[in-house]
Amino acid sequence: MAKKVSLTGIKPTGMPHIGNYFGAIKPALELAEEYESRYFIADYHALNAVKDKEELKFMTYGVAASWLACGLDPDKSLIYKQSDISETFELSTMLAAFTPKGLMNRAHAYKAKVDENTSKNEDPDANINMGLFTYPVLMAADILLFDSDVVPIGKDQKQHLEMTADIAEAVNKNYKKELFKIPAAKIGEETQYIVGMDGRKMSKSYDNTIEMFLGEKKLRKKIMKIVTNAQTIEEKKDPESCNVFKLYKFFSSKEQQKELADKYRAGGMAYSYAKQELFEVMNEFLKPMREKYDYFMENTNEIEKILKAGSKKAREIAKKKIEFLRKEIGIINIK
Ligand code: ADP
Ligand code: TRP
Repeated sequence: MAKKVSLTGIKPTGMPHIGNYFGAIKPALELAEEYESRYFIADYHALNAVKDKEELKFMTYGVAASWLACGLDPDKSLIYKQSDISETFELSTMLAAFTPKGLMNRAHAYKAKVDENTSKNEDPDANINMGLFTYPVLMAADILLFDSDVVPIGKDQKQHLEMTADIAEAVNKNYKKELFKIPAAKIGEETQYIVGMDGRKMSKSYDNTIEMFLGEKKLRKKIMKIVTNAQTIEEKKDPESCNVFKLYKFFSSKEQQKELADKYRAGGMAYSYAKQELFEVMNEFLKPMREKYDYFMENTNEIEKILKAGSKKAREIAKKKIEFLRKEIGIINIK
């Protein structure tokens, strides 16, 4: 039996942090064992927000280098750039004809902007571009073009997957035929919830992130800034409620955790000691990935080679799907 397909994309809009790694990147890469897996860089989605040419380029290489540094094997999985699959944009146009405008009005990202404008007494659509409004249609095209069975995503993307299914069903219903497979969202477990430097969920929106590929010095500096309570060195401390220890758990063995927890509970331990321990384990964990990332960022021609090979294979799949769809809906294929 043919393997099922998993597919996911990352927008090149920022540097990946530890939360993204445990919550999104690692679980998505693990699917490569069981699924025929596809990973792409959603650069045209990013364009809605990133209007600086050099920044968009840098972030695009950055996302590709991140996937590769985190263990994506281009011989086993497909990796490509959204912009290289022109069939995506044709499919997006086709899907737009089946997407009720009202459905887009309800999209969280669009609605949040409208609400923000309204609360500021501005025009409801101020600073909203059509790319943001039709974002879910392009995302549906990314997914449906490749007959994806599962799409690993974060909770915030759940609505987009529901919209993808709605749009696909509308098409299937119209032609009384399964032109599209209905994809299922695979949402990461909350057990992988990573705290940020201030104890809230690690997120770019809270400015409390620890980026994955920081150099050693910067990494250490960030770790030293993690918020702890005001207990004195002598006092006995509770490891489980400490942000430093919460992060330590993700990078250490059970024995290491017990050893450090005992020091917390015994008293006489400064938080700077725990932070140094965290730095040691985290640095050891991140170092090989950082080295790979740095290598690719210094050799972007290697990234380009990998993306070129990936998009070549991806387009073969995409072309077939588009030809099939055109035939089914009455768009003439001229050979
Ligand atoms: P941010 O909140 O920093 O903007 P994104 O929304 O871009 O992060 O995150 C992309 C994905 O990374 C999320 O959908 C989620 O799966 C994962 N993720 C982000 N932050 C965390 C976190 N603190 N803990 C676990 N997973 C996270
Ligand atoms: N919208 C996703 C995000 O912001 C990125 C994305 C674009 C995506 N197209 C996709 C994710 C297709 C999964 C499948 O995180």
